[in-house]
Amino acid sequence: MMRVLGRTEISTSTLLLVVTLVMVICLLYDYNDNQISHLQKAVMEDDNQTMSPAQNASHPTSWPPCEPNMAAADIRDFSSLPKTLQDFLYFQHCRQFPMLLDVPDKCGGAEASDGVFLLLVIKSSPGNYENREVLRKTWAKERLHNGALIRRLFITGTEQTGFEKARQNQLLQLEQSEYGDILQWDFTDSFYNLTLKQVLFLQWIDRNCPHVRFLLNGDDDVFANTGKMVEYLQGLDGNDGDKHLFSGNVIYNSSPIRSPSSKYFIPMQVQASNSYPPYCSGGGFLLSGYTAMVIYKMSTAVPLLPIDDVYIGMCLAKAGLHPAYHMGILTNGLYIPSKKIDKYDPCIYRDFLLVHRFLPAQIYLMWHRVNYSNLKCSSFTKH
Ligand SMILES: *[C@@H]1O[C@H](CO)[C@@H](O)[C@H](O)[C@H]1NC(C)=O
Ligand SMILES: *[C@@H]1O[C@H](CO)[C@@H](O)[C@H](O)[C@H]1NC(C)=O
Ligand SMILES: *[C@@H]1O[C@H](CO)[C@@H](O)[C@H](O)[C@H]1NC(C)=O
Ligand SMILES: *[C@@H]1O[C@H](CO)[C@@H](O)[C@H](O)[C@H]1NC(C)=O
Repeated sequence: MMRVLGRTEISTSTLLLVVTLVMVICLLYDYNDNQISHLQKAVMEDDNQTMSPAQNASHPTSWPPCEPNMAAADIRDFSSLPKTLQDFLYFQHCRQFPMLLDVPDKCGGAEASDGVFLLLVIKSSPGNYENREVLRKTWAKERLHNGALIRRLFITGTEQTGFEKARQNQLLQLEQSEYGDILQWDFTDSFYNLTLKQVLFLQWIDRNCPHVRFLLNGDDDVFANTGKMVEYLQGLDGNDGDKHLFSGNVIYNSSPIRSPSSKYFIPMQVQASNSYPPYCSGGGFLLSGYTAMVIYKMSTAVPLLPIDDVYIGMCLAKAGLHPAYHMGILTNGLYIPSKKIDKYDPCIYRDFLLVHRFLPAQIYLMWHRVNYSNLKCSSFTKH
């Protein structure tokens, strides 16, 4: 009995070993294949390098990758800067990257794009799968609200390298085939590259959705009452999206943070001036299609600053436009001092347009409580 069992064990493990070896060989073979096709692609793209991408805007997938500017290292004290800022400076001149995923007809074509009333533009890193899933079935659901068409786009780059990057890209491809709501460019999705993401998106709007009426630009971890947003925008006097609108949580009189340990560190070499123009916090702001196009046009003449919301404020300032404060947009979240009040009471949230920051499960529950149940709110929260 013992011997028989022993023999079975040996043959099982031998079999496992063989199967594993075969799998490893197959994987290596596959990997080589991929490497080769990547190389071929790189060579093809290299051939294309001479062609200015701007000349062939209709084929963003064929754009060549942008090369680093090595002369950036010549600026004063370059070597003392954090690696992330060095990377930023090497690529500061880049404004075109190949698109990996596109939805050029999201707005029904450039000409017909005035049919979209509110375009939700959500900054999402490839790894934030859960946020995207929850947003798709809650506040970012594509629908008609009060006769107004709501459309959704996630804007993203790439994360990690090698197998991990390939896996995340495949996940995004799967999501794309099911939902058709992702714009992805082949650049590193990092904090200091958020401005690049916004600029690439503005180019996309110029190509594919120039007449959209309004946009919400924000993070994927906010609770947004998009129904209320539509009603607010529909109630604007004499603005159909064809006039200036830019509103959110305005930050006045702020200045670059010079401390290298801060997430928002901006050294003198990147910006010498000690003040920022007023801008709306990037957690979420509303703007008209008109203003989006103005920002796009200004951006072509404003060097990239690695903090996206400040950068957009700079583009506005260059056009002589101002952001407006909206009391319903709480990008710093909501502070409820009393322990007696449930800080997730839907009666508190139903009147706001946007609140930062929520976990996916909290967004799911809050949307359900605000949107579907017959809320009975006590007098102190009733408006
Ligand atoms: C550019 O690359 C695309 C494929 O990526 C190819 O179809 C096209 O012919 C190339 N154009 C030039 C000018 O090399
Ligand atoms: C853009 O490229 C495609 C093929 O890659 C070509 O068919 C088209 O004519 C080009 N357009 C322009 C304006 O060069
Ligand atoms: C921005 O993206 C480019 C292209 O992927 C990358 O080389 C660079 O390091 C990124 N910059 C930062 C600051 O992450
Ligand atoms: C509630 O959800 C339904 C279904 O998604 C939607 O049609 C309706 O507009 C939503 N109501 C509000 C106030 O957003």
